[in-house]
Amino acid sequence: MLFADVVHSMDIAAAVGAERLREIMAELVNRAAAVVQQYGGTVGSFTGDGIMAVFGAPVSLEDHAVRACLAALGVQEEAKRLAVDVQDRDGVELQLRIGLNSGQVIAGEIGSGSYGYTAIGEQVGMAQRMESVAPPGGVMLSASTARLVGDTAALGEPEMVLIKGAEEPVAAHRLLGMGERHRLIERVESTLVGRRWEMSAVEGLLERAVDGHGAVVGVAGSPGIGKSRLVREVAGMARRRGVEVFTAFCESHTSQVPFHAVARLLRAAFGVDELDGQAARDRTRAQLPDADNEDMVLFDDLLGISDPQATLLPIDPDARRRRLTALVNAALLGRTRPALYVVEDAHWIDAVSESMLADFFTVIPQTPSMVVITRRPEYEGTLTRIHGTHTIALIPLSDPESSALVATVLGPDSSVGEVGEAIVARAAGNPFFAQEMIRDLAERGVLQGTIGSYVCHTDVAEVSVPATLHAAIGARIDRLGTGAKKTINAAAVIGLRFTAALLTGLEVDSVLDELTKAELIDQVRFTPRAEYAFRHPLIRAVAYESQLKSDRAQLHRRLAAAIESRDPVSVDENTALIAEHLEAAGDLHAAFDWHMRAGAWAANRDIAAARLSWERARRVADALPGDHPNRLAMRIAPRTLLCGSAWRRFHDDIAARFEELRELCAQAGDKASLAVGMAGMVIENMHHARIGEASRLASECMALVESLADPTLIVELSFAACVAKLQAAEWDDALRWSQSVIELADRHPANANILVGSPMAAALVFRGVARWRLGRGGWREDFDRAVSMTRTIDPVSHAVVIGYKYSGIGPQVHQADDAALAEIGEALQVAERSSDDIARALVRLALGTTLVRHDSPDRRRRGFEVLAELLDMCVKKRFALNAVPTLEVFAAYTKAARGDLDGAIVQLRSTADDAFHTGNLSSVEWVTLALVEKLLARSGEGDVAAAEAAVDRLAAAPPHASGTHRALVALRLHALVARARGDEPIYRELVEHYRAMATSFGLEGSMKWAEAMP
Ligand SMILES: Nc1ncnc2c1ncn2[C@@H]1O[C@H](COP(=O)(O)OP(=O)(O)OP(=O)(O)O)[C@@H](O)[C@H]1O
Ligand SMILES: [Mg+2]
Repeated sequence: MLFADVVHSMDIAAAVGAERLREIMAELVNRAAAVVQQYGGTVGSFTGDGIMAVFGAPVSLEDHAVRACLAALGVQEEAKRLAVDVQDRDGVELQLRIGLNSGQVIAGEIGSGSYGYTAIGEQVGMAQRMESVAPPGGVMLSASTARLVGDTAALGEPEMVLIKGAEEPVAAHRLLGMGERHRLIERVESTLVGRRWEMSAVEGLLERAVDGHGAVVGVAGSPGIGKSRLVREVAGMARRRGVEVFTAFCESHTSQVPFHAVARLLRAAFGVDELDGQAARDRTRAQLPDADNEDMVLFDDLLGISDPQATLLPIDPDARRRRLTALVNAALLGRTRPALYVVEDAHWIDAVSESMLADFFTVIPQTPSMVVITRRPEYEGTLTRIHGTHTIALIPLSDPESSALVATVLGPDSSVGEVGEAIVARAAGNPFFAQEMIRDLAERGVLQGTIGSYVCHTDVAEVSVPATLHAAIGARIDRLGTGAKKTINAAAVIGLRFTAALLTGLEVDSVLDELTKAELIDQVRFTPRAEYAFRHPLIRAVAYESQLKSDRAQLHRRLAAAIESRDPVSVDENTALIAEHLEAAGDLHAAFDWHMRAGAWAANRDIAAARLSWERARRVADALPGDHPNRLAMRIAPRTLLCGSAWRRFHDDIAARFEELRELCAQAGDKASLAVGMAGMVIENMHHARIGEASRLASECMALVESLADPTLIVELSFAACVAKLQAAEWDDALRWSQSVIELADRHPANANILVGSPMAAALVFRGVARWRLGRGGWREDFDRAVSMTRTIDPVSHAVVIGYKYSGIGPQVHQADDAALAEIGEALQVAERSSDDIARALVRLALGTTLVRHDSPDRRRRGFEVLAELLDMCVKKRFALNAVPTLEVFAAYTKAARGDLDGAIVQLRSTADDAFHTGNLSSVEWVTLALVEKLLARSGEGDVAAAEAAVDRLAAAPPHASGTHRALVALRLHALVARARGDEPIYRELVEHYRAMATSFGLEGSMKWAEAMP
């Protein structure tokens, strides 16, 4: 029940005269009536200076209360608009007060004519009272209405107001706004047919969820089979139990727009859908009061509500992802009120959202919430594999069910029986097809009457029913008037949901009424801006596909421009979308630029997203006509970025891209791009533990760079080459290149952060390792300088430095004391907050290898645990596989310590074989050392001989330079074997030799060990 009244109408009458007042009132009533009707309400009696309207049956109580609220806000808006005219013309202030109340009323036709409805009952009085206490321009709700809309309306604090005729004050609530409108304006739907098993299965899961054991439910099925309908039923059921519902819709045209779905879902869940920047940020902060401020800035960026003044934090995408996941998971776990999260049409989800949501949803079983994901059968991505997902596959309706469905729509008249049968047979259990056929027949006049009471005067034998669902929809679109057809075509280019404003941006005179009436689209949002949605994705698809390509291209082009100009602040977030539309428009050059721009935007946020944009740019460039002047350079640029960043995350098949890059660069004579791509590939090979290939490419890369005589490039790219050469035990090369970086870096700082923030610090560490391995001096100073350089400047470089310092040479050199642990701990903290996964792994390796040598047994145990976790992660995520041999050595130690010496030896043998085989020659010393130690400890048959063979293999491995660290290790092992053989004189001699060498290296640890040899 809605009551609206003009404030001080008597004063207005006095000022403008009765006739003009009538004019104003008539205009106001007309406008208000339109709004009320739009929301399915009925305008009641015209009370002279106010309006009364009823919202009621046949829809549910909640729904009509929501509609009334929306209408009230809409009427106020109209009144304000009218007030501007009145102010201009008459110089008086026109204001409206509105009151709402809900409850049983008896509505009946009292008068006649269009405004002849009125409603009586005690509830009516209450609505009028609410109106009387509403502030001018405001809307006041009674307690009963407030209860019904509490979920979706923004309400003021309850005010106790005194009203006429009541002794006690009653509660009243100011209506401040409505949220999440679209899902509340439920269309009047056909009765649900069948699906009883599915509904009760979901109901059971929902009950468990509310009890704290959440579930993820996948609903799969072909188009039109009833997935969305099932979800709407489930959502209704959930709301009735007080469960809040949040939905994200995926769309075909946003499947390439990173973060689209995840941002939508989170925006809905945090209630910031309709808020502007600052208000949205305040709202999220109010809900996450304990969150770290920096985390919240990342969260703003994800939701697209960043402060435009804020700069992007220098945080690696990996760390960003870790922090956002932790934040969202904590929010999910912390939520006590049950919620239902719906992801509609996962077959169109963008890749970044897909993987983020998969991470977020892992905690759902521990929350009072449920997730429902709908998808067509072709989708088999990550969201179908979330641990413990329940899948509901929707099969076609049975014939009796289809008949029931068709019968409810057609009605009982005997003339429709035969048509009904034909429809059931053709629809093959697809409810949407059945509905569309009926609409088609009704539009053609074959069926006459209205839903639920059709008659048919045509002989069924002469009626053709559409052959396919597409044909049915196509026929209905064809029948539209020109204006409506143009509108639906333009809308289809925009997407499943579209605003009237955007249609105007496409220079289309919108004819939306006709489309709404034909049930092709629905209005899903009224204020602050009108928004519409296709009734079904297939309608959009047919409208999209049935257009002339050239017309569509034109629309895409205009749309790209409209999106760009609509919201200059968030243009960056829309780069991928703009690129998509330009590509669809056939503007390849422009699309290329936007894809590249999208890649640059994403590179700091999500490397997989950036990679997708670069791939798109590559495709567009490849499709350019052969005579396009920039074609070659445009084909090279995205490939350079793809290969150059390959090390940041694994590609399926980047090797093919690299070969293409090589060829294109040869054509263009572009050595610099090739070198950048190659450097990325060097590390990519390292991650796959293809050390031999990495080393070979490293040589090629450096030869290329040196031939260019470009010092900046040397500074930028040596990092990759040094990493590979150190791993391959080619110390001389690593020494030489790190040396040149150290000489050049001051004068030629790296341009972009291509591989590492501080090439100088990295070079110092690499030189330190190389010097130490080669038995040269100066390495201590190199490490010290590097650590002090990076501590404050760049987390990734710092992680590299600490990683190499403690795990590269640590075991022999650095004490496993508290000072070391403090230094590592500090680096780890920084890495957790801002580094990529690889840098973080490096620091954890340093932590593990240090802890296992600590005096405290607890610490040692923790060390082995850290290393075991790391091994597991490397293998599972398939990165840093070059570190696997080292990690396996520790796993073997753990095995042996648990008494499984045989198992440890088996493991060490295979690790050693692998390390030699893959050219991972920097790790063969540790592996051989452990193997020999364990073989000699067992001393079974043939063990000593096997140990000796292992040492010989180590000694024979390249490089053969004498005086190296490797020679030292070999010496020690030879000594151990000699002793095991009982060859005392040789043993003594070798130990002596070893002691002398360790002393000359300045290795206290090794010297101590030599002293301790019996
Ligand atoms: N069991 C049912 N009883 C009555 N009507 C149904 C039933 N299932 C579906 N419908 C109706 O059929 C139409 C299509 O269903 P729906 O939109 O749920 O399909 P969908 O599976 O989500 O398709 P898509 O994959 O294209 O999104 C809707 O109008 C819906 O109300
Ligand atoms: Mg659907």
